[in-house]
Amino acid sequence: MSAPNIETIVSLAKRRGFVFPASEIYGGLGSSWDYGSLGVELANNIKQSWWRWLVYERDDIEALDSSIIQNRLVWKYSGHETTFSDPLVDCRACKGRFRQDKLQDVECPNEPSVCAGSRKECDLTEAREFNLMFRTTVGAVAADDDETALAYLRPETAQGIFINFANVLNTSRRKLPFGIAQIGKSFRNEVTPGNFIFRTREFEQMEMEYFCRPEDAPQIHQEFIDGFQSWFHSIGISAENLKLYEQSKEELAHYAERTVDILYRFFPERSDENAQFDELMGIANRTDFDLKTHSKKPEDAEGKRLNSDSTEDLSYFDEAKKERFYPYVIEPAAGVNRTVLAVLMDAYTEKTNQKGETRVILKLKPALAPVKVAVLPLAKNKPEIVALASQIKKDLQHAMRAVYDDTGGIGKLYARQDEIGTPFCVTVDHESLEDQTVTVRDRDTWEQERVKITELKNYLQKRLS
Ligand code: GAP
Repeated sequence: MSAPNIETIVSLAKRRGFVFPASEIYGGLGSSWDYGSLGVELANNIKQSWWRWLVYERDDIEALDSSIIQNRLVWKYSGHETTFSDPLVDCRACKGRFRQDKLQDVECPNEPSVCAGSRKECDLTEAREFNLMFRTTVGAVAADDDETALAYLRPETAQGIFINFANVLNTSRRKLPFGIAQIGKSFRNEVTPGNFIFRTREFEQMEMEYFCRPEDAPQIHQEFIDGFQSWFHSIGISAENLKLYEQSKEELAHYAERTVDILYRFFPERSDENAQFDELMGIANRTDFDLKTHSKKPEDAEGKRLNSDSTEDLSYFDEAKKERFYPYVIEPAAGVNRTVLAVLMDAYTEKTNQKGETRVILKLKPALAPVKVAVLPLAKNKPEIVALASQIKKDLQHAMRAVYDDTGGIGKLYARQDEIGTPFCVTVDHESLEDQTVTVRDRDTWEQERVKITELKNYLQKRLS
């Protein structure tokens, strides 16, 4: 099974310390979230898995960590200043403000609804374009609206990669095809954020721009579409909750030749099967638009430079073919936060114990689990048992994320670890003092096995891998 809805995960996340509402003690801030201890570990494990699979296990990917705040011209020539906007409408009746293209997804903000709960009843204004980039000013400026100091928080990590193409190419001495990967925060002043960490104004992206010859782009694109589906399966997302969506010609961004989204079943409670799915990541063939638009050389029909500010030409010279051209770009772009949500929803399971009580088990893949092993003393009033359990935790902590917990009875401690997805619990009891063995309990089967303390680390490492 997986979670019946996002609310189930919101409640688990808050109860167990994965994610909290941001600025909560001041009434919150629309759709901002803070990650607690377990959320930090889970997100880090997802990012590490992505990085290992994409960067370490291939030979053709470089890394980058570019600035969040760049020269404003980056966003002029990328097109974001003029086109990165959503159509905004206001309702004269309920005073709500909505994205015109997402009206079917939102409820009337008034309680009780003045629009009969349906946007169809709304008295809407004409749509106007609302730019999603957060504005800021750089340096000590005289006025907040000083246009010469205007800058933006990046709305995607991708542009930082394009503008560093020549730096990476020259320093790495790469030949096509190769990619540049980056993980980092992005910011969008979304009109209608919501659904927990699904759509927020501050979020994290895992993006890679793969540069190749134009004629190779379609095949490479397809390979990444297939590859990322496999990666999502490898981190525990079941095939029945994933599907592909081919963007229609009308939906494609102006620079894209083909874009395929990987969708996850974020809304299983919806009756319409199609409406249950929404975007987890996009994989686009962006053609040569990005490198061309940031280059100084391309000219229009009258011989006028299309980019009069760039100091660099981001074309590529193919030595073997003695040919200069602008590489095509294949871009797999995923959201860290949406992946956290999908992983939590997919891992969510309920199981009934012998007393008929329902227990939550997060069946996370061991590699993603925030805690790999919890060491629990059976009797916390027995100093020898406590000391042995603490020592075992210390011995394990170099090899894996281990915690010690003695804050409840053993049943409660097991339940707590099941609920946060800890694959193994190690229990130290009276017998352990005599025969130097401990009980290892499996999260998914609740089966228990006696293991020698001297063999514990190897035993756990083997079962975790
Ligand atoms: N460079 C391409 C790009 O940014 P995108 O489809 O706009 O493409 C990529 O974003 C991914 O980033 C999305 O598939 C989603 O997972 C995540 N994402 C985008 N906007 C988001 C938001 N407001 N909140 C959370 N995640 C978001």
